[in-house]
Amino acid sequence: MSIKTEYTDFLVIGGGVAGLRAAVELAKSGKVLVITKARETSTEYAQGGVAVALSDEDEVGIHYEDTIRAGDGLCNERAVKILVEEGPERILELISWGAEFDREGTKLAFTQEAAHTRRRILHAHGDATGREIEGVLLNKVRSISNISKYEFAFTIDLLINDGFCRGALLLKESNKEIVAIISKAVVLATGGAGQLYVRTTNPPVTTGDGMAIAYRAGAILEDMEFVQFHPTTLYAPRAPQFLLSEAMRGEGGILRNINGEKFMSNYHPSVELAPRDIVSRSIISEMVKTKARHVYLDLTHLSSQFIKKRFPRIYSTCLLYDIDITEDLIPVCPSAHYIMGGVKTDTDGRTNIKGLFAAGEVACTEVHGANRLASNSLLEGLVYGPRAGKAASEYGGRTRKSKISPPSYKIYKVRREIEIDKIRTSLRRLMWDRAGIIRCSKSLREAKVKVSKWETLLNHNFATRRELEIKNMVTVAGLITEAAVLREGSIGAHYRSDFPERGKNWKRHIRFNK
Ligand code: SIN
Repeated sequence: MSIKTEYTDFLVIGGGVAGLRAAVELAKSGKVLVITKARETSTEYAQGGVAVALSDEDEVGIHYEDTIRAGDGLCNERAVKILVEEGPERILELISWGAEFDREGTKLAFTQEAAHTRRRILHAHGDATGREIEGVLLNKVRSISNISKYEFAFTIDLLINDGFCRGALLLKESNKEIVAIISKAVVLATGGAGQLYVRTTNPPVTTGDGMAIAYRAGAILEDMEFVQFHPTTLYAPRAPQFLLSEAMRGEGGILRNINGEKFMSNYHPSVELAPRDIVSRSIISEMVKTKARHVYLDLTHLSSQFIKKRFPRIYSTCLLYDIDITEDLIPVCPSAHYIMGGVKTDTDGRTNIKGLFAAGEVACTEVHGANRLASNSLLEGLVYGPRAGKAASEYGGRTRKSKISPPSYKIYKVRREIEIDKIRTSLRRLMWDRAGIIRCSKSLREAKVKVSKWETLLNHNFATRRELEIKNMVTVAGLITEAAVLREGSIGAHYRSDFPERGKNWKRHIRFNK
């Protein structure tokens, strides 16, 4: 099949906070093309907020310590230092670009979330922080003539030539055209992989594409066993798996089992604000004990006026499903939320492949260690997006425009019907049941066997987004299960019922390279 070739200086894959912020930086040095496979991103779903040491009672040193503690011994200290030290400047810059965070009087208003020892979470329009940040960044990007955007363009693979990343091969969904984009450098900012699990807070776009294409291209992937499960998503018939922000517990929300009993004090002294992995496992334990599919989040003791003002989006969404959160107990259950692992980078977003950079959830700087501190991910995008952009633009400055011959892509002709949607459903159930909140050798090995079969079945050059996505999901599922098998110990978000202690050699990072 003949492939059209287009040229740009820099290619950014992904349009969430990390990608947009990288694009702003790159535009100082040349033409930037941002490609996204859809219009929706994970950023816009972020409710709770963005953690930053800007309040009078806070210090970057305390934010640093809280992040390190949450990471359970596996954070890269330098990466955390950069995050907390550069965070305040990036937030003030965003405010100067028009971001409107909620205020009390003239002062910024901060809320509390689990494992933070200070009220340090900024929020916007109550519970629509990600949407506000993304809106401001999109306006910024639109104001820069050097940046253009392709939407509904799916990245099939990265273009690697002589060991250097020279761009990417895209499927443009509008006309089913395959296009090679040749660039001096590529920044991957494709987000996470929550869709690998049947229960997830993430939007449908989070199919692990960036991790899978980077892995196929020869990048190192690290810490893939560390998947964070958010304790509270709405569990109601017909309702989407809607996130109920941790800030609701930060403002006094209480967890109760289906018999109406409070239970968190049986599990952790910080009760509702214990680390997320502990709250999630405690909920599962109560669900098992009471033979129920959910527990409840109770806000009914808080003033109804406060709830409506503080959580307007959550209030109105729950009402659509006949739950008035000011009066009713809210049925909740944990869901896959964030992956700490990803494409290994240094603190400037460089991967092991020259010309390939990564930032945000797709990347692993080790800033979150084995468990991410709540609301550190928007900050990660705001800090590490521009760092990756700067490093990529410096790299581009030393690189001449590539003259590579257009690649070929021989589309797989379906000889035998592959039941893509069936594999997708089975994979998501399998990951939830076998590689979810509580794992063990037996469950993980069962998952591995099935995933390997699907990997073989899907090892083809597909030409539709649906097929390419499921191929990527299977690749990432293989990496998660393999890493989870190899880590015979429990740490951070990775809990093995057959190895409940940390185990020997826990301080290592598990890495994969094709
Ligand atoms: C939440 O609002 O609970 C999500 C915040 C986060 O995961 O960082």
